[in-house]
Amino acid sequence: MAGPTLLTRIASVLLHPLTPEDVLGLLDPVRSSRQLRGVVTAVTRETAGTATIAFRPGPDWTAHDAGQWARIGVDVDGVRQWRSYSLSAPAGADPEITVSDIGVVSGTLVRGTKPGDVLFLDLPEGDFTLPEEPRPLLMLTAGSGLTPVMSMIRTLVPRRADADVVLIHSSRTPEDALFREELAELADQFPGLTVHHRYTATDGRLDLTTPADLEALCPDWRERAAYACGPAGLLDAAEALWCAHAGEDLRIERFRADLTAGVAGAGGRVTFEHSDVEADAPGDVPLLEVAEDAGVAAPSGCRMGICHACLTPLRSGQVTDLRTGEVHGDPGELIQTCVSAAAGPVSLAV
Ligand SMILES: Cc1cc2nc3c(=O)[nH]c(=O)nc-3n(C[C@H](O)[C@H](O)[C@H](O)COP(=O)(O)OP(=O)(O)OC[C@H]3O[C@@H](n4cnc5c(N)ncnc54)[C@H](O)[C@@H]3O)c2cc1C
Ligand code: FES
Repeated sequence: MAGPTLLTRIASVLLHPLTPEDVLGLLDPVRSSRQLRGVVTAVTRETAGTATIAFRPGPDWTAHDAGQWARIGVDVDGVRQWRSYSLSAPAGADPEITVSDIGVVSGTLVRGTKPGDVLFLDLPEGDFTLPEEPRPLLMLTAGSGLTPVMSMIRTLVPRRADADVVLIHSSRTPEDALFREELAELADQFPGLTVHHRYTATDGRLDLTTPADLEALCPDWRERAAYACGPAGLLDAAEALWCAHAGEDLRIERFRADLTAGVAGAGGRVTFEHSDVEADAPGDVPLLEVAEDAGVAAPSGCRMGICHACLTPLRSGQVTDLRTGEVHGDPGELIQTCVSAAAGPVSLAV
């Protein structure tokens, strides 16, 4: 990913009529009336496959609450791709995201981003945020699931003498543990933070099928407001444990939707009308992925059914909601393509 140089932007002025906003955008790339943008100010390698990217957003950006996320767009092979990333910086600070390299967009961000590059942005959102009233907290995280919680810790621990936070974080090895040194320094400096690392390569996974592991690390876990973020296995197990032993004081942030609950239908031929493209769609693959594989520039965001950025009018046919198995669809209905698969022949206005 490369940011346009001033020269290429000036050359573009000579070829296309521009609005006053566009001219301002020439001088400062974060100014654009069409799309909120940010300029990358720093890229910091955190672990072998993870980097933190700091950016200066345009004037329409609104400050994030600790734990919120934003949609970030990057151009990959000429196609703008959007994904959601938690903002790992403390509330009130310039935004940062911390990205693990696992695929198309994260790989581009981690390996291809440098200061001066332009990111496309949407405003921060999400309610995985600190409680309104101060409370003892338990944070249960694994891998990149630490990122929203790190924002909360950075916001709360240095600023409030009454902070009481226990973090239990799983990573494969010490070298894979995000923010390890910073967390150690914070825990040394502030008695309100206790950090327990679980290194799964040597210690095995935290067992949440019974309360024993939690009780050993955090005996008063039932009294704390709990937050969990990480892979589906950890979150499902935490949900089951809290449900069975501690009531409902657990907030969960998922980075991926569980699309296996739905009963996969037969699939069918999909027509992307505006793009004049057709493709075969299996009954268990989101239409968003079918569109992208077919080279169709379909809108997307969280890719898990929460942001509605992918809403696309259905022209004909029906779809399966992969989260529930429900088959639905009337002509004109707006379909969330990231969680819907074809249930027979389908035509979409994209
Ligand atoms: C609210 C929210 C906050 C998020 N915050 C962060 C964050 O702070 N840091 C971060 O690194 N990511 C975060 N994510 C995940 C991020 O949005 C992308 O899903 C992730 O970077 C993968 O995108 P990709 O294009 O690189 O992978 P793709 O090319 O889309 O997928 C590559 C492969 O990885 C699988 N995959 C996709 N997403 C995930 C996932 N989350 N976990 C495991 N496998 C996956 C796909 O099924 C596919 O097999 C967040 C997601 C949400 C919804
Ligand atoms: S991309 Fe967010 S709901 Fe589909």
